Amino acid sequence: MARKILVTSALPYANGSIHLGHLVEYIQTDIWVRFQKMQGHTVHYVCADDTHGTPIMLRAEKEGITPEALIANVHKEHSADFKEFLVEFDNYYSTNAPENKELSQTIYRKLKANGKIATKTIEQFYDPVKNMFLPDRFIKGECPKCHAKDQYGDNCEVCGATYNPTELINAYSAVSGAAPVRKETEHYFFKLSECEAFLKDWTRSEAIKGKPTLQGEAANKMGEWFENGLNDWDISRDAPYFGFEIPDAPGKYFYVWLDAPIGYMASFKKLCADKGLDFDEYWNKDSSTELYHFIGKDILYFHALFWPATLEFSGYRTPTQIFAHGFLTVNGEKMSKSRGTFITARSYLDHIKNPEYLRYYYAAKLNSTMEDIDLSLDDFVARVNSDLVGKYINIASRTAGFINKRFAGKLSPSSSNTVIAELKAAAQIIADAYAGREYGRALREIMRLSDIANGFVAERAPWVMAKQEGQDAALQQVCSDAIEMFRLLTLYLKPVLPKLAAEIEQFLNIEPLNWASVNASLNAGHAINEYSHLITRIDPKLIEAMTEANKENLTATAQVSAPAKTKAEPEAILPEGEYISIDDFTKVDLRIATIVNAEHVEGAEKLLKLTLDIGEDKTRQVFAGIKSAYDPATLVGRNTVMVANLAPRKMKFGMSEGMVLAASDERGGPFILTPDVGAQPGMRVK
Ligand code: MSP
Ligand code: ZN
Repeated sequence: MARKILVTSALPYANGSIHLGHLVEYIQTDIWVRFQKMQGHTVHYVCADDTHGTPIMLRAEKEGITPEALIANVHKEHSADFKEFLVEFDNYYSTNAPENKELSQTIYRKLKANGKIATKTIEQFYDPVKNMFLPDRFIKGECPKCHAKDQYGDNCEVCGATYNPTELINAYSAVSGAAPVRKETEHYFFKLSECEAFLKDWTRSEAIKGKPTLQGEAANKMGEWFENGLNDWDISRDAPYFGFEIPDAPGKYFYVWLDAPIGYMASFKKLCADKGLDFDEYWNKDSSTELYHFIGKDILYFHALFWPATLEFSGYRTPTQIFAHGFLTVNGEKMSKSRGTFITARSYLDHIKNPEYLRYYYAAKLNSTMEDIDLSLDDFVARVNSDLVGKYINIASRTAGFINKRFAGKLSPSSSNTVIAELKAAAQIIADAYAGREYGRALREIMRLSDIANGFVAERAPWVMAKQEGQDAALQQVCSDAIEMFRLLTLYLKPVLPKLAAEIEQFLNIEPLNWASVNASLNAGHAINEYSHLITRIDPKLIEAMTEANKENLTATAQVSAPAKTKAEPEAILPEGEYISIDDFTKVDLRIATIVNAEHVEGAEKLLKLTLDIGEDKTRQVFAGIKSAYDPATLVGRNTVMVANLAPRKMKFGMSEGMVLAASDERGGPFILTPDVGAQPGMRVK
C-alpha cells in the first residue's frame, strides 16, 4: 500500500557553512527518502535555513549588511552544497518566510487561547553600551574555577566547568566589551510544566504499532528530564532581535527555537502551494499520513519536548517518529581546525570531488542508534576503493567489454543462474535494513552479494573463454548473467549512490530502477550501451591535500577575530595546567623580523605572502592570515615579531617558514605587533 510520508532534516543555522558533521544527517535522511520513493510511496522531503536569532543579527551587522542579505547569501551557499552532495529536498526554504510568520503567530494564538502562555518578569544581563539583552553565549569573562580568561557565560572550554554567567569574574559583553548590568524585563513563557502528562505518554507511545515514537536511548533520556521536572519554556526575546514579533506584544520577539520547527510546516506549506498538495491532510490532528524528523542527538530536547507539546496544544498532529543520530568524529576525535579535520562541504568537493564516496562511507557506518560515527580518513580511502571499485564496479568492468565488442552490445536471455536467484532473494533483507536505518547492515549484505558475483565471474573466467574456439554462446551467457547481477546490485545501492545509478541505467539502457525492478530482468537481445569506466579509486594524496588546506584555513582565520561560535566548532586544544615553566617559554624562539616584501597570493582568500629578514643569510617566507586587515604595500619596511623555530609547513601555496604574531578578538584585528624603535632584525624577543 502506498503511504504518504513527510520527512524533515533539522534546519541548519544560517550563520555558518555546511560541514562534514552536518552532512551525516542530510545524507542519512536523503538515503531514507530515496529508498522510500523507490518503494513507490509518496514522500515529501522538506528543509530550510534556520535564520533567526542574535548570532545572525550580529554577524550581519559586523559584515555591514542586513540580516536579510546575509541569509540570502547563505541560502545560496547551503542550497548549492546540498545539491552537489545529491541531497534532494522537495523544498529547501527559509524560516524567515511569510508562511512561517503566519503559522508561528497562529500557533502562538492557539496556545494562548488554550491557557498555555504566561508572562513573567525576569532579570537578564544587559549590555549598556549596545543597548541589548545578552544571551549567555555573548557574555565572557574569567572562569570562576580555573581562571582561564575569555570564557563563555555558560561553560569553560579550558577546564570544562559549567556555571551561570553571574559567576564569571570580570564579565564583559562579547559584543561591545562593556561590563554587563542586570536588568528586569517581561518574558513570555510556554507552560511546559502543564504538558507533562501528555509528554510522558507521548514519549512512550507508538503511532504505528511496533514503531516506538522515540528510540530506546532517547526515551530513557526523556525519563531523566521528567525526573528533574519540566520548567516553563521562555519563548520571547527583547528587541533588537532578528525574528518575528509576538502578536500584541510590541518589542517582543519569538525566540528562534519557537519558530524554527514551525519552519518544517512552512517549508511544506510552500511546497503545497507549488505542487497543489493538501497541507491539512498532513497536519490535521487526525491525519493518517506519516511525519518523521531526522535530527542530531544534541537537539532531542527541542524535538521530543517542546515540539510535540507545541503541536498538541495548538491542535495539530504530532510526529510519527523522531530519528536521532550521533555526532561525527574524524579519525576518532572531535572535528578540529588545528588537525585540519574541520572540513566544510565545499572543501571536500574542491579536493575529493566525488560526493558519492562520502555518501557510501557514511552509509556503511550508519545504524539506527544515537552512537557517534567516525570518519577515519585512511579507512575511508580503503573502504571506498575496495568496496566500490574493487568489488562492485569490477563486475561490470570485467564483463561489459565482451558484450560490447563481441556481441554488438546484445545480451543473452537471463539464465536460471543460482547467483542471480540469491541476489534477488536478498531484496527483502536489504529493504528492511534501509527502512530501519540500518544502512551499514544493508551495505554489508550488498557487498557480500558482490563478492559472490565476483566469485562467479572469476570462476567462469570470461577472458579465458574469449580466447577459446566455440565458446561464444557461453561467453555471452556468462557476461549477460554478470550484467544482470550488476543491475541488481545497482538497484540496491541506488538510495546511496543515485548519480552513479543514473549513469549505469544509461549504460544498461534501462528505465530508472525502483524496488519493483528486482522482479524484472533484462530481456534477450536487449542492447546495452558502450561501457566506460564509471568510478575511479580515491588517491590518498587528495585526503592529505584536503586536511592540509583546512589547516591552512586555521592559520588564516585563527588570527582574525573568530566568528560567533557555534557548538559544532570546537576550539583548538589548550594546555591543561594553568602555568608553563620558563623553559617552556624559551622553547619558542621569537625574533624581530623586517618585512622586506609583502604580496597577495593568487587564490588565497585570507593570506598574504611575507618575506622576512631575521638576520640570517636567507630571508624567510611566511604565509600570514592578515589579508583582511592589511594592504601589502603598507607593510613593506615594517618591523614585527615572528616565531622563528616553528616547524616549516607545506601549505597549498608553498612552504611557510614560521609565523607572524598578531592580536585579535571580537573587537577587531588582526593587529600585527611592532617593536619599539631601535630593535634590529634577528634580535631575540624574550
Ligand atoms: N538550527 C538548529 C536546528 C533547528 S531544527 C528546527 C541546529 N542547527 S545546526 O546547524 O547546528 O545543526 C543542524 C543539524 O546538524 C542538527 O541536527 C545537528 O545535530 C547536526 N549536526 C551538526 N554538527 C554535527 C556533527 N558534528 N555530527 C553530526 N551531526 C551534526 O541545530
Ligand atoms: Zn575553567
